[in-house]
Amino acid sequence: MPARVRTAVIPAAGLGTRFLPATKAQPKEMLAVLDRPAIQYVVEEAAAAGLDDVLIVTSRGKHALGDHFDRMPELEAELERKGKTDALEQVVALAELARVHTVRQAEPRGLGHAVAMAADHVGDASFAVLLPDDLMVDDAALLRGMLGAHAEHGAPVVALKEVPRADISAYGCPRIEPVEGPLVRITEVIEKPDPEDAPSSLALTGRYVLTPAVFEALARVSPGKGGEIQLTDALGLLAETGTVYGWVFREGRYDVGTPLDNLRANIELALERPELAAELGPYLADLVRRRNL
Ligand code: G1P
Repeated sequence: MPARVRTAVIPAAGLGTRFLPATKAQPKEMLAVLDRPAIQYVVEEAAAAGLDDVLIVTSRGKHALGDHFDRMPELEAELERKGKTDALEQVVALAELARVHTVRQAEPRGLGHAVAMAADHVGDASFAVLLPDDLMVDDAALLRGMLGAHAEHGAPVVALKEVPRADISAYGCPRIEPVEGPLVRITEVIEKPDPEDAPSSLALTGRYVLTPAVFEALARVSPGKGGEIQLTDALGLLAETGTVYGWVFREGRYDVGTPLDNLRANIELALERPELAAELGPYLADLVRRRNL
């Protein structure tokens, strides 16, 4: 049985061009969803799944990502002086969620290249990759399931979700064979195929449990879609020579890197908070009535 997975790698070096102008001078991962930046949900999910070591791959102008998980003595002293104990506890707990490290990707050469930046940190262990655009509202159930499958089988496990065929060209798309329950075997995977060439309507979504073999595969792949080093192409190589699993899930994912899904995530997360839901629920119901939606 492979050793317990401890590290979550969070690629966060991208420019956030789908959410301009909000992301012109601010990392997209710091955009708030309800009361916390998107990246915090991802680190909380990692911690909830037992991953206590986090490596964020950042780039120029993205200091805020590391700062958010660091202690902030001036702020803490001020909150203490003002007797704001709840806020103080929250900011201290945030710095204690996990050991958070950062590494910088010097050039935007793709997701695969960003993941390769984690090689020295990860060493010879399996690790998880969590894409911060994909916000999961599932108490880490998906990630836990994938880690369980990895512990049992020792091979990479990637998250898959059914999407409308017309949307498949925004995702990596696998050809699969059923194994058992949510577990499938990936025999081939294509990055962002045209819908008519797609081997399935399953999309790679932003959770991966990988073995260190992926670093050798990443070193072998040539630039692919968009001229970038694609993680999907490295997974394809691994699937040619060994086993790569998929884990099919249905619920709980928002692409918070796009304005509409970001808004959906805000509404649904707020409806799960009793103190907000009490007013938001009737407000939404009334809005639907008034606007004839
Ligand atoms: C990346 C991956 C793609 C995956 C997607 C999930 O694409 O390259 O295979 O399906 O994340 O969100 P991106 O959204 O960065 O273009």
